[in-house]
Amino acid sequence: MSTTMFRKFWLAAVMLCGVAGIAEGFPRNEANGCLRHSPSLNKCIERAVQYYITYMANGKISDRYYVMSIDPLGFPNATLVRNRNIHTYFLGREMRGFKNSFVTEVRADLNKLEFLLQFHMPAIDVHGSYRAELAHERQIAEWAKMFSSMRNSTLRIHLKGITYESEDRIYVRVNITDFDLTIGDHTVGFGWFTMSGNYSDHSQAFDLERGRNILSVVENEVTQSFRDKFQLLLNEILRLAPFERFFPSQ
Ligand SMILES: *[C@@H]1O[C@H](CO)[C@@H](O)[C@H](O)[C@H]1NC(C)=O
Ligand SMILES: *[C@@H]1O[C@H](CO)[C@@H](O)[C@H](O)[C@H]1NC(C)=O
Ligand SMILES: *[C@@H]1O[C@H](CO)[C@@H](O)[C@H](O)[C@H]1NC(C)=O
Ligand SMILES: *[C@@H]1O[C@H](CO)[C@@H](O)[C@H](O)[C@H]1NC(C)=O
Repeated sequence: MSTTMFRKFWLAAVMLCGVAGIAEGFPRNEANGCLRHSPSLNKCIERAVQYYITYMANGKISDRYYVMSIDPLGFPNATLVRNRNIHTYFLGREMRGFKNSFVTEVRADLNKLEFLLQFHMPAIDVHGSYRAELAHERQIAEWAKMFSSMRNSTLRIHLKGITYESEDRIYVRVNITDFDLTIGDHTVGFGWFTMSGNYSDHSQAFDLERGRNILSVVENEVTQSFRDKFQLLLNEILRLAPFERFFPSQ
């Protein structure tokens, strides 16, 4: 990314470090990243991440520049249950609501390249469709609209970075080492069932799989997909510019 483009990105997206521009949409001063040795480094990162989530969650950084959207966020199809009798899936999943989250804690250790980000997520919803089928007779099946609603959740993410060199510049890439999602209230719902084949002989078995452990199974799937996508997005952003531009040493 060119210098101008980076500046635009940084101005628009990332940093305001004490600049009063959030309300007007863009900071007025030239933004310079988060000073590496500043005592308010954590606060600076917090503002940057918050600004990004609130204003750029759809991935649009400028008219010409895009990264992956985090709201809405598409997830891969998930297998919920796979036993000898029945297979069930949560397909075409899309998550919404992250843009209304709040950054509640940031801790950065730039020497070790370790970060903690904590978010409060008032409302996260994942919509998609549900499909269940007999393992040995797939035409005997049911479908429904499906949603998972999570309220009042806390997400704590630990990151570990490593540096790498590209075109004589130092960049950072991160791995999520811990992704702890604590869900305050979780509801899974279904709507508009459609059945096919000799369904009624098996309806109890289908009911059972829809009920059994569904919350924890959906939670695990959502958490894993969210974690994978979050890491992709972070690295997409970090690839936009060398480390020194995000965290200038002076
Ligand atoms: C997910 O499932 C839907 C419905 O079966 C299908 O149309 C779509 O291609 C699947 N997506 C992927 C990435 O496999
Ligand atoms: C949200 O969760 C916190 C603790 O995790 C709890 O103290 C608070 O009462 C909850 N709020 C709502 C509206 O459920
Ligand atoms: C992230 O994890 C992968 C595989 O576990 C590893 O190869 C890579 O070096 C790790 N990167 C960081 C930044 O720790
Ligand atoms: C449906 O079930 C009935 C009785 O359970 C059976 O006689 C019929 O052959 C079945 N039809 C199919 C298509 O499996």
